[in-house]
Amino acid sequence: MLKPDAIQRAIAAEILARFERRGLRFAALRMLTVDPTMAAKHYAVHKGKFFYDDLVKTITASPVIAAVLEGPNAIAVVRSMVGGTRPHEAAEGSIRGDYALVGLRNLVHASDAPETAEAEIKLWFPEGIISYIRDIDRWMSEDKAPS
Ligand code: CDP
Ligand code: MG
Repeated sequence: MLKPDAIQRAIAAEILARFERRGLRFAALRMLTVDPTMAAKHYAVHKGKFFYDDLVKTITASPVIAAVLEGPNAIAVVRSMVGGTRPHEAAEGSIRGDYALVGLRNLVHASDAPETAEAEIKLWFPEGIISYIRDIDRWMSEDKAPS
């Protein structure tokens, strides 16, 4: 999910382009304003933490872009492209390491495991995602030589 700061700073398309260029395939894309109920569901795992209220306020403040990205090792690839939670510790070359300064303005939310990805996809895309293959996918996704 591109958080409100990504859109307000007009770098949303640039961030999405990084994922696309890496080889990941969009399986769903949606722009919306998050209401507090959805924010509470999305961030349920953080309830009770010191930053929880700020997190909910921040993600509901302005529209976001939710996306589902598919590809081999998509979760690990996206997490590594996004970089560490605290931007001042995020690797240079990562999205947070290149574009962000502080934790509440770290631009992107990325699912951290298959289980959270599944729950988050259901939450943000109740109508489902779109399954398709691009012709170029075999040039990026096939990890074996043709027999
Ligand atoms: O987003 P990520 O998975 O890297 O971090 P998280 O531990 O799941 O925390 C969710 C979000 O809460 C972060 O992306 C930050 O925006 C915020 N956060 C914060 O502001 N201060 C912290 N010490 C930890 C998290
Ligand atoms: Mg997280």
